[in-house]
Amino acid sequence: MIYLDNAATTLQKPPEVAWAMAAAVRTMTTPGRGTYPASAHAADTAYQCRTLAARLFQVSAPERVIFTFNATHGLNIAIKTLVRPGDRVVISGYEHNAVTRPLAALGADVLAVQTPLFRPELLLRQFREAVTADTAAVICTHVSNVFGHILPVKEIAALCRERGVPFVLDASQSAGILPVSLEGLGAAFIAMPGHKGLYGPQGSGLLLCGADHPDTILEGGTGSASALPGMPEDLPDRLEAGTHAMPAIAGLLEGLRFVARTGPARILEHEAGLTAQAAELLRHLPGTTVYAAPHGMGQAGVLSFQCQDMDCETTGERLGRMGIAVRAGLHCAPLAHRTAGTFREGTVRISFSAFSREEELHHLVRSLERLRRRM
Ligand code: ALA
Repeated sequence: MIYLDNAATTLQKPPEVAWAMAAAVRTMTTPGRGTYPASAHAADTAYQCRTLAARLFQVSAPERVIFTFNATHGLNIAIKTLVRPGDRVVISGYEHNAVTRPLAALGADVLAVQTPLFRPELLLRQFREAVTADTAAVICTHVSNVFGHILPVKEIAALCRERGVPFVLDASQSAGILPVSLEGLGAAFIAMPGHKGLYGPQGSGLLLCGADHPDTILEGGTGSASALPGMPEDLPDRLEAGTHAMPAIAGLLEGLRFVARTGPARILEHEAGLTAQAAELLRHLPGTTVYAAPHGMGQAGVLSFQCQDMDCETTGERLGRMGIAVRAGLHCAPLAHRTAGTFREGTVRISFSAFSREEELHHLVRSLERLRRRM
């Protein structure tokens, strides 16, 4: 199979990820639940994972790195800490349902800054107009999961700091390829999945906490301060009720080690290079619309396209039958499609990882040509 759906989940992982997960099942219980070796081993693994994440993402203390089940989980904690019903919230026009649905459920007053694709300066200008001192939070994705569009989050975060507005970053598509710094951005929260660019398994995610005293969305045992009726104040326990997903955390640690030794910049160069090449190849296919940044600037390893004679779902399904995994439709991001003007038709999306190869692109293009001929 040719796997081009890495924006959803990276499927090819460094082999150490699965080895560590299998070992965790056999040798670890849960941190803080006993003084016996299996619990100590779990505590040590969790601590190593927090410490490496704190180093990679410039978090002042490992305790501020929270294990979540995915980015959605982390975003829910962030949003439910910062936003109350009726509060004004400013988001980009490229947000995922993981941001828009919790805000809708809360009844927030949401202003989406909707600017055309690959126009970061225009986007920033509109954020400057939209973010007022009474804004409860600004929430922004680093990279669009549909179009690979890189948003100017450093500048948006600076604007939030200037105006005293908490900033939340959705690093779902950027963690592992772009610099992500909790301290540098002064963000209240940064949420990221473990199972995409960090090469961990599904069920792993991280929430980096700049804000103190976050609200809990789940309460229960923490193995600490057990006599307290409520959740402890201290991080990470405050946000980690219940038994930890230790096999997922052990796998994520190996994924983080892979990213650290390979280098995010090198992985980005590889993925962005494939994206630019894919754009060039697809543009030459008759009747194909490609959503690519001019000169490949400002786009990560994600690319959307449409074929004139075949709807997106059909293209995705037929490619799947030919052994090529892509994602077609609205990608859980209807707002991004509305902003880019692709809501009615959706798009076919291809997305790369450190393990993607150039010949896979050529195979994709040949398969699309074959599909066209069959039409
Ligand atoms: N957000 C993930 C995607 O874009 C699931 O496919």
